[in-house]
Amino acid sequence: MSSLQSAALARVKPSATLAVTARARELKREGRDVIGLGAGEPDFDTTKYTDVDGLPELKAAVAAKFARENGLKYETSQIHVAPGGKTVIYNALVATLSPGDEVIVPAPYWVSYPDMVLLAGGEPVTVIGHEADGFKLKPEALEAAITPRTKWLILNSPSNPTGAAYTGAELEALAAVLRRHPQVWVMTDDMYEHLIYGDFDYRTIAQAAPDLYDRTLTVNGVSKAYAMTGWRIGYAGGPKPLIDLMRKVAGQTTSNPSSISQWAAVEALNGPQDFIAERATHFEARRDLVVSMLNQATGVRCATPEGAFYVYPSIEGLIGKTTEGGTVIDGDDTFTAELLDAEGVAVVQGSAFGLSPYFRISYATSETVLEEACRRIQRFCASLR
Ligand SMILES: Cc1ncc(COP(=O)(O)O)c(C=O)c1O
Repeated sequence: MSSLQSAALARVKPSATLAVTARARELKREGRDVIGLGAGEPDFDTTKYTDVDGLPELKAAVAAKFARENGLKYETSQIHVAPGGKTVIYNALVATLSPGDEVIVPAPYWVSYPDMVLLAGGEPVTVIGHEADGFKLKPEALEAAITPRTKWLILNSPSNPTGAAYTGAELEALAAVLRRHPQVWVMTDDMYEHLIYGDFDYRTIAQAAPDLYDRTLTVNGVSKAYAMTGWRIGYAGGPKPLIDLMRKVAGQTTSNPSSISQWAAVEALNGPQDFIAERATHFEARRDLVVSMLNQATGVRCATPEGAFYVYPSIEGLIGKTTEGGTVIDGDDTFTAELLDAEGVAVVQGSAFGLSPYFRISYATSETVLEEACRRIQRFCASLR
């Protein structure tokens, strides 16, 4: 089996200055009288560097969150905190991908996955989750995509851009395939975990298939659940050897995320959680409004997703039609450009997410705005001949 560490990271030394500082900090915590002359850090008191991959208090809050909400047990040494979920994912890929290593990215995918894989020197392998299958990866398609060079499968549930979420049984079916391929690690991006509707029973894969725990990185963050996108705090729980490699990457690149943001995240994770479910009911009402209005637009077909704040309607019924200005709608790129031009509604073309002809709407805005936007989309679709 190939090594977990990427060839590039194997050539890199851990940051010596950060290692000394971390050791000194640890000894001080144990009560030792240590004089720290290691870090290049002004002694005037504002706020200071923290441990590279997160304050102990934040790691404890994250570990408690995983135990409380996902039934997953992680030691604080198995937690990685970084500037946003994005950096967490990137650190994991940079830490592990060597040239030729493949990463299975189910489409429609969040725009950054394939490009992050490329940046990290790996090869993205996209596998389509069709609309008829709720935009979800089927076990047969996963099996067919796996090769001896497959290093990761990336799961994102609920999904950006489709809102699709995997049931426990669907995750178990994927796990049955993964059991036959022990070289494949699983990165699950659970950013939208709390935006789930109706009585859907949310599961993350290490919970649905505990035997995969030793090769799963469970990624999450405060951006979407707590509406804290600007604070830039993401986190993950995973096997210690992987977490150690991710810390090595962070130690030579970002160092710690802002200490102020980390303390804010401690408060978010340890504080009252009831408003999360309350917010989800608002999002559910918005989803229902948008799905219903889009399905009333000529030529548009919009599935009802389980979660997140996105819908991914099909415009199959509009392909070949012509705008009032004479432009033929030959795909979702043209559709979204013409919609913006004619009605001033900005949506994202499906080609950006790896499945056409669709477009993505983010409904993380007020019902008044959504209603107006959907009315304009209806008017635009009705104007096509
Ligand atoms: C699926 C998914 N993962 C990760 C992120 C990034 O999260 P963060 O803002 O914490 O970097 C996003 C943000 O849009 C996302 O949609």
